[in-house]
Amino acid sequence: MKLQRHLPRVRDLAPLMHFATPEFNAKKRRLEKALTIHDLRTIAQKRTPKAAFDYTEGAAEAEISLARARQAFEDIQFNPAILRDVSVVDTSSTVLGGPTALPFGIAPTGFTRMMQSEGEIAGAGAAGAAGIPFSLSTMGTTAIEDVKAANPDGRNWFQLYMWKDRDRSMALVDRAAKAGFDTLLVTVDVPVSGARLRDKRNGFSIPPQLTLGTVINALPRPEWWINFLTTEPLAFASLDRWSGTVGELLDTMFDPTVTFDDLAWISDQWPGKVVVKGVQSLDDARRLATMGVDGIILSNHGGRQLDRAPIPFHLLPDVAREVGTDLEVHLDTGIMSGADIVAAIALGADFTLVGRAYLYGLMAGGREGVDRMIEILSEQITRTMRLLGVTSLAELTPAHVTQLERLAPRALSMPAATAPRPPAKAAIRPPVTPKTAPKTAPKTAPPKAGPRKSPIAS
Ligand SMILES: Cc1cc2nc3c(=O)[nH]c(=O)nc-3n(C[C@H](O)[C@H](O)[C@H](O)COP(=O)(O)O)c2cc1C
Repeated sequence: MKLQRHLPRVRDLAPLMHFATPEFNAKKRRLEKALTIHDLRTIAQKRTPKAAFDYTEGAAEAEISLARARQAFEDIQFNPAILRDVSVVDTSSTVLGGPTALPFGIAPTGFTRMMQSEGEIAGAGAAGAAGIPFSLSTMGTTAIEDVKAANPDGRNWFQLYMWKDRDRSMALVDRAAKAGFDTLLVTVDVPVSGARLRDKRNGFSIPPQLTLGTVINALPRPEWWINFLTTEPLAFASLDRWSGTVGELLDTMFDPTVTFDDLAWISDQWPGKVVVKGVQSLDDARRLATMGVDGIILSNHGGRQLDRAPIPFHLLPDVAREVGTDLEVHLDTGIMSGADIVAAIALGADFTLVGRAYLYGLMAGGREGVDRMIEILSEQITRTMRLLGVTSLAELTPAHVTQLERLAPRALSMPAATAPRPPAKAAIRPPVTPKTAPKTAPKTAPPKAGPRKSPIAS
């Protein structure tokens, strides 16, 4: 039959025409267009000098630890339950004795004002507004007391590097306690600094040096330079002035003799919660549990220390099962989406931290950029939970996640020294060890794990 046509009529056209009010605020326009953390990263890269961006983005040596950590999050399958009422979703929980509105906080990062002039003030303010914890690094570029002023009613955590000069380290700890910081994160994966090759190649130093290369690179990024040259000179909130490469600075400060005894001594000085950051084995997690620390962070420092380090997300199920009732198990490294966070909580993490995701937001738009980063992750978390059929974090169980096989460690059935070389393609999988019980009984029956493709743990 022949199609009947008529001239377009205004009354049919009118309902289809929706012209959005133009957004004249360029920063707002930019940030609203960012739908993922990767989008924020793209904006950040355009607006930040190469050396500062590479310092943030880069990892150690060949950057294998970081790539694997991200890969591990991608290599999962979510197993949803259908026909659940998910109209209301609660993403809040209690972490280290206090509230958090979302299952992630901002990780400690050094040199933050160098990435964008608002630095820690933007991070602490955004975290406070969103009801999540903010961590200040020993290598932070904003004073402890100023961070407290930026986030007066929220939760502030202080991250400690144990320096060769113990008195100065402990003076900082004392200041943080007096300013009302409720948690001390003791970072233990930096006996010496990792080899950040990008920084060496870029000739990156603190403060940034003006060479012909940096000047040329600065031309399309005027805002960063205007901010940099018209705000407080970059200095460490807790250290004297420094001039040299980052690696040199770190190596003059870090104390390679620090042991478990020092950790016990530090814990005794701190009135609040103590969390050990940078745990990378089940044995160390067990030992820390017997020491009575309040929490551990499974982390390889965002891949910035030991390259080819264990993947924190792969360690998680075993560590959570073994020590999860004795202390809180947190996780970082590689998180780029809310779905990564949901997967970590399902496999037994009590909490997660984001480093680069936060810094991409900061570099993309200062305080508003960090707000947008939190908004993106929050929306992704809520949507993923709804699609999985859960309405609270406590309902997430290991059955919601299947870790697919790629990067799975090969288990040896004999001590390494006597084990014969395994046949080329016949890796023996570690046993499937489901976690015995969810943290709290799920209100609804968890879904049965779906068809599995060689799970390494669930
Ligand atoms: C630029 C940068 C600086 C960092 N500085 C510190 C630091 O001063 N102290 C610390 O304990 N961890 C530091 N970290 C590691 C983070 O706290 C966190 O472990 C890591 O960023 C998590 O990985 P992600 O970036 O993939 O989220 C830093 C990370 C980055 C990216």
